[in-house]
Amino acid sequence: MHPETSITRKRIAFLASGRGSNFQAVIDAVAAGTIPATCTGLVTDNPRAYAIERAKSAGVPVTVVDYARFSSKAAYEEALLHAMRGCRADLFVLAGYMRILGPVIVHEFSGRMMNIHPALLPAFAGLHAQRQAVEYGVKVAGCTVHLVDEGLDTGPIVVQRCVPVLPDDDETTLADRILIEEHKALPLAVQLFCEERLDVDGRRVRVL
Ligand code: GRF
Repeated sequence: MHPETSITRKRIAFLASGRGSNFQAVIDAVAAGTIPATCTGLVTDNPRAYAIERAKSAGVPVTVVDYARFSSKAAYEEALLHAMRGCRADLFVLAGYMRILGPVIVHEFSGRMMNIHPALLPAFAGLHAQRQAVEYGVKVAGCTVHLVDEGLDTGPIVVQRCVPVLPDDDETTLADRILIEEHKALPLAVQLFCEERLDVDGRRVRVL
């Protein structure tokens, strides 16, 4: 039980493809007791993802579904769905998962899957969001945690945090500044979910 409420501990699992710093931020918040949850698994499409080392250090079970070993996206997604079901998670967190999920998985985890994106959506969806922001010349950038729907970075927004874009920024310096905020936004969004404080009404998410 969470110390301040009667809610039961949620089971959370992760999909990540790479470095895993956002994954780390969430498992640190769980370890600190800020998020009332148990981390039940990391699923990755990339056998070389550094997130795997982080999971091992934290005692989080890892399943690798190596994209390169499948002959079709459909076969890969079938194996991925099987691995995701095996985590028996209340919430799936996409923490730097670099592929677009197909409709079967999105539907199965509807309302209980979140993604972190390094832009203030709906601006700059898709790849290289920080580069898009620099090239567009915006003065404010940031990150968004949103529920996952079938579109590309289009689901209902849970948390956003912003940073200034400075005159000499390039993609890397801006990405570094945004990443600091990602590491606050994602644990907060997961915490709110686990505390049952998200009320989703169409596109609008009210924090209770
Ligand atoms: C982050 O910028 C995240 O917003 C994006 O991919 C990056 C993953 O970084 N989706 P990390 O693997 O969490 O360090």
